[in-house]
Amino acid sequence: MKFFVDTADIADIKELADTGLLDGVTTNPSLIAKSGRDFIDVTREICGLVDGPVSAEVVALDHDTMMKEAETLRKIADNVCIKVPLTIDGLKTCKKLTSEGTMVNVTLCFSANQALLAAKAGATFVSPFVGRHDDNGFDGMELIADIFQIYSNYGFDTEILVASIRNPVHVLQSALIGADVATMPPSVIKGLFKHVLTEKGIEGFLADWEKTGQSIPTS
Ligand code: E4P
Repeated sequence: MKFFVDTADIADIKELADTGLLDGVTTNPSLIAKSGRDFIDVTREICGLVDGPVSAEVVALDHDTMMKEAETLRKIADNVCIKVPLTIDGLKTCKKLTSEGTMVNVTLCFSANQALLAAKAGATFVSPFVGRHDDNGFDGMELIADIFQIYSNYGFDTEILVASIRNPVHVLQSALIGADVATMPPSVIKGLFKHVLTEKGIEGFLADWEKTGQSIPTS
């Protein structure tokens, strides 16, 4: 399973990229606004920090303007992935861009039928929003399982990029289903490393090690 971080915060991206466990980045207009940075500048900087896809979202709602915005965004770097909303114009744009070899992430997916359409449009990634789905009384994980089943039935290449992840359980359930990618806020990625028994175990081992009076040579 690939791990993407869902942020436009450079410090967080650098910290996670340094672990060697980060496969990509997703941004959206809200995250760009939160960064307080110029969209093009911050996207360029992020693209230089990771080798994997960096999703940058168009804001136009019509196909022609989406294509013009995508033209600007895809010139930023080779690893830019154009993010388009799951609308008729968004999918038309997706079809055109992917036929030209540009990666596309179809975002704001809330139903399995929408995901089917995204796959038919040749999307590189489809982003079902599990947290927002749960918030509205639906079962986000059921959505992921349905999309996984449909994509398997027909052998679609579109990768399921689980988005709007709120906690480590969302990651676990997505991995059990077999989703390709999870995009998470930095806090959720960092939370995956943690376990109270790991911390307690380290504490115990170090306390006993201290008693030996030994040290491991480091040079
Ligand atoms: C995904 O690409 C979106 O940017 C993101 O996961 C949305 O998450 P939210 O529902 O927490 O805003």
